[in-house]
Amino acid sequence: MTSVANPTVVHTRAPGKINVYLAVGDLQDDGYHELATAYQAVSLYEDVRARHADDFSVHVTGGAAVDVSGVPTDASNLAIRAARLLATTTGYRGGVQLRIDKNVPVAGGMGGGSADAAATLLACDALWGTGLGRDDLLHLAAELGADVPFAFAGGTAIGTGRGDELSPALAKGTFQWVLALADFGLSTPTVYRELDEHRRRHSGDISPVRQPVVDTGVLQALRAGDPGMLADSMHNDLQAPALHLEPGLARVLEIGESNGALAGLVSGSGPTVAFLAPDLDGALELQIALSAARLSVVRATGPVHGARVISD
Ligand code: C5P
Repeated sequence: MTSVANPTVVHTRAPGKINVYLAVGDLQDDGYHELATAYQAVSLYEDVRARHADDFSVHVTGGAAVDVSGVPTDASNLAIRAARLLATTTGYRGGVQLRIDKNVPVAGGMGGGSADAAATLLACDALWGTGLGRDDLLHLAAELGADVPFAFAGGTAIGTGRGDELSPALAKGTFQWVLALADFGLSTPTVYRELDEHRRRHSGDISPVRQPVVDTGVLQALRAGDPGMLADSMHNDLQAPALHLEPGLARVLEIGESNGALAGLVSGSGPTVAFLAPDLDGALELQIALSAARLSVVRATGPVHGARVISD
C-alpha cells in the first residue's frame, strides 16, 4: 500500500502493551505523574482502515472478547483527535473515514485507545501523502497521550517523564502471557487519583519526593529473555489502587497464581490481569484453568513490532 502514490484505503495495525514494571512518582503541575516504566508490546492488535472523506468519522467493531459499546465515536475519540491533529499540523484540508477493529480490551489498562491513535497517525500520513515520517509522527503521538508514542514504537522500551519519553531496552526471546479480561473498565485518572489519595492518607503533610526508576532486575530479565526472572521483578504501583477500587481482582490474581502462572500483574491501570507463563504449554494450561473458573481469557506473546502499514 505504501508504494501506491494515491491510495484509496490505507490499512495499519498497532499493538496493545503490558507495563511489566510501572513506578509512579509525584503528581506534576500538568496533571500527569512522573513515571518510570518498562513497556512490552503484545500480540493483541488494533487495525485501522482509513479512506478519503470530506469530514472526520469513525466506526468501531470488536473481536470476540472485546466489548466496544463504551467507545465514543464523536470528536472525543482518540483516533479522530489523532487525525485532526495531523491535519492541523500539516495544513491538510480534507477529512478521513476511519474503521477500527479492536482486539485490545477497552479501558483495560493495555493501551487500546493509544494504539488506535498511533495506527491512525500512520494511516492518515500515508493516505493523505503528508509524508511526516516516524520522528515527527512520534512527536504528535506524545501530544495525544502518554502511551501513544510506545504504541507507535512497539517492541520493548523504557518510558520516563509521563511515560512518553522512550528509550529502547534490549530484549531477547518471546514471553507468553495469559490475560484475564474484566467485563467492566477502570478509568485511568480514577486509578491515579486513588493512588494519590492513598499516599496522602499514609504520609500526612510531609510527603517524600519520589524518584521513580525501573528496577535493574527487570532490565536483566528482559535482556536475558528469562520469564522466571521477570516474574520475580515485575511490579506495578497502580495495582494496589486498582485492587482497592475493584477488590474482586485479588481473586483473579489468586486463581492464576495457583494454576501455574509464574506471576500475575494488573496491567497498567487495570482491570486486565496479565499472567506470565513459563512457556507455551504452561500458557495453554493456564488458559484452560482460568476459563474453567469462568474468566474471560486471551493469550498473547511479546514483544511485537509497533505501528505499521499492512498490505492487503
Ligand atoms: O495519557 P493519557 O491521556 O492516556 O492519560 C490518561 C490520564 O491518566 C491522564 O489524564 C492522567 O490523569 C493519568 N496519567 C497520569 N500520569 C501519567 C499518565 C497518565 O496521571 N504519566
